[in-house]
Amino acid sequence: MSEHLLIEQSAGILTLTMNRPDKKNALTQNMYGAMADAISAAQDDSAVRAIVIQGSTSCFTSGNDVGDFINSPRSGTDSPVYRFLRAICNAEKPLIAAVNGPAVGIGTTMLLHCDLVYVADNARLKMPFVNLGLCPEAGSSFLLPRLLGHLRAAELLLLGEEVSGQRATEIGLANQALPTGEAVLQAARQAAVRLTEQPPGSLKLTKQLIKEGVTQVAEQTMDAEGAHFTKLLAGPEAREALTAFMEKRKAVFANH
Ligand code: COA
Repeated sequence: MSEHLLIEQSAGILTLTMNRPDKKNALTQNMYGAMADAISAAQDDSAVRAIVIQGSTSCFTSGNDVGDFINSPRSGTDSPVYRFLRAICNAEKPLIAAVNGPAVGIGTTMLLHCDLVYVADNARLKMPFVNLGLCPEAGSSFLLPRLLGHLRAAELLLLGEEVSGQRATEIGLANQALPTGEAVLQAARQAAVRLTEQPPGSLKLTKQLIKEGVTQVAEQTMDAEGAHFTKLLAGPEAREALTAFMEKRKAVFANH
């Protein structure tokens, strides 16, 4: 349970709403844990036919809580963040994301595990792992080049380039860009309703077939990335970058 994650289930749709507005929905261990539990429970619940992950009408998520990165870094594959990543990677039910505003770090990499992604015109997708002295996670070093090709993946991962909602649809990171706000949440909801009306056996098999061969490699990549990520988090580059964010200053790597 987490006070910062709203969980609602109705008419076959499980909706997970990240709700920590004062920190731009930055994800805490409790939030990851609650999302992992809800998605895993839905796997065996025939009443759930589709899962929607959303933030508010102005913000999806600013990614992992930076304070947590510094004070209680993720450790081991049993940690809540890895449970969450494994849950979305292995989810048999369709995952739909509704993205308004910023989707930083895991806010973008989680989208690579979704089946349908609706973004706002003002969406800002960004994976600043290198900028933070870290490395890709969530299997993104495998999934992103597979989806976008090497050059675009390199642009997003090496430079930490930001992608607008419109651009996300052009390069294949999202299905549709919509006016910012309720329209994005509604589009995700409507897609979820349509999925609840599909025959569940065929839906499940088709998702399985689409992801055949991908899930296993994504999970292996996730484990390899995770080991590097944990080491880098404790290193001097990440310390400088994360402390700079907390101190609201530009990070300096000249002496690194
Ligand atoms: N972890 C912890 N706190 C965060 C956070 C995060 N990931 N993202 C934002 N916040 C906090 C800010 O510190 C600020 O707190 P304060 O009001 O106590 O000073 C508050 O949320 C609002 O953020 P702010 O930066 O003022 O909002 P903005 O609209 O100008 O920018 C973002 C929004 C998401 C673009 C920006 O906050 C950002 O880049 N966040 C960091 C993202 C990040 O690096 N995540 C890790 C990726 S691996």
